[in-house]
Amino acid sequence: MAPARSGATADRPLLRASFDGVWSDLEGVGRDPRSGGYDRFSWTGVDLGLREWFAAEATRRGLEVEVDRNGNQWAWWGAPADGAVVTGSHLDSVPGGGAFDGPLGVVSALLAVDALKAAGVVPERPLAVVNFVEEEGARFGLACLGSRLMTGAVDSSHALSLTDDDGTTLADAMSAAGHAPEHVGLDETALARIGVFVELHVEQGRHLALGDESVGVASSIHPHGRWHFCFEGEGNHAGTTRLDDRHDPMLPFAEVVGAARRLAVEAQAVTTFGRVRVDPNGTNAIPSRVDAWLDARGADQGGVVRLVDDLQRIAEEAAAGHGVGLTVTRDSFTPVVDFDASLSDRLRSSLGAASISAPTLPTAAGHDAGILASRVPTAMLFVRNPTGISHSPVEHAETDDCVDGVEALTVVLRDLLVAPLEVVPAAGGQPGAGARR
Ligand code: GLV
Ligand code: MN
Ligand code: MN
Repeated sequence: MAPARSGATADRPLLRASFDGVWSDLEGVGRDPRSGGYDRFSWTGVDLGLREWFAAEATRRGLEVEVDRNGNQWAWWGAPADGAVVTGSHLDSVPGGGAFDGPLGVVSALLAVDALKAAGVVPERPLAVVNFVEEEGARFGLACLGSRLMTGAVDSSHALSLTDDDGTTLADAMSAAGHAPEHVGLDETALARIGVFVELHVEQGRHLALGDESVGVASSIHPHGRWHFCFEGEGNHAGTTRLDDRHDPMLPFAEVVGAARRLAVEAQAVTTFGRVRVDPNGTNAIPSRVDAWLDARGADQGGVVRLVDDLQRIAEEAAAGHGVGLTVTRDSFTPVVDFDASLSDRLRSSLGAASISAPTLPTAAGHDAGILASRVPTAMLFVRNPTGISHSPVEHAETDDCVDGVEALTVVLRDLLVAPLEVVPAAGGQPGAGARR
């Protein structure tokens, strides 16, 4: 079967040129010229540049820009009101991240608005494009920070006390960037405005790459979480301290890294220690402390929880064996998310009516859509990623596929804007029922 190139908008070459234009505006922002990777962390100068870019693009399109209590940016087509159609994603990145994870959803949303306007669509309800704050948790450690704060999924005073690697709190970082931190937290006003949320995202995996279609519809997000392992030992001289006299926190940590892999194989889950901080981090000094963060995910929620419990027991034994202290803290856990079945059906049927064939696929990547799913009907579109690689400078999507994504999003939004919005529960699904606990 040929790739789905529907021609849903009349002027594909123009759309391609618009995509290239907007994409190239963003290309250099926060990019390390040596690695090609992006460091786009919340409330930094780079992030403020991205926020200014978002506001300027919105204003250029005649959209009204608002910033909510938690710092998320909203660009409104039509006066802000309850029950709007909301789309968008995030502009931040992991350290050394790729260009597409996040920005593709924001750029596609803006271009979909252009396409809808050019087609003379007269919306029955407002549309908002949203840019969520710190989806990756790269600066303050908590993924989907903006959407978690908005839905009350994280306590606001706890969130404000989170620190980055330099010890700056979220509260101070927000203040320094000109956003008042005292109002952050559950935002029922913002939530009521979301009638439905549709997030477009580059696929992180090769489900689409192994098939013929360039765009897919998400079914679910695997349960996933982050745990902080802190091993505290005794710093000492690397040359003069006898092996028997050492309390080296690196040793139990090393055992835990191997055990995490073994347990993941057994549980058919995935585990990663991708972030480690060693104090004092000197070649000739036994570390006094190792802080490491576990990311664990899998299709089976019970399996992931048992895996982490088992790993914690192994860590405790290993730490005790080396005379090292251990604390394990759960930083976050997102239960399995089933996207709204009736909204997803509706997406598939509007895409089908435009001759866009879009398979349904699950993902093990987290998204703001997964957080919002506990409160509002939510769905996602994925755009093919030829290698499946993500959270890496080489993350990629072909421009033709990105343009397919814009067309698919345009089709979906048009239906949601002009036809009645009621999302009727489909068999096995409830509107907004999202996260299964
Ligand atoms: C975000 O992209 C995540 O899955 O951690
Ligand atoms: Mn990501
Ligand atoms: Mn993302």
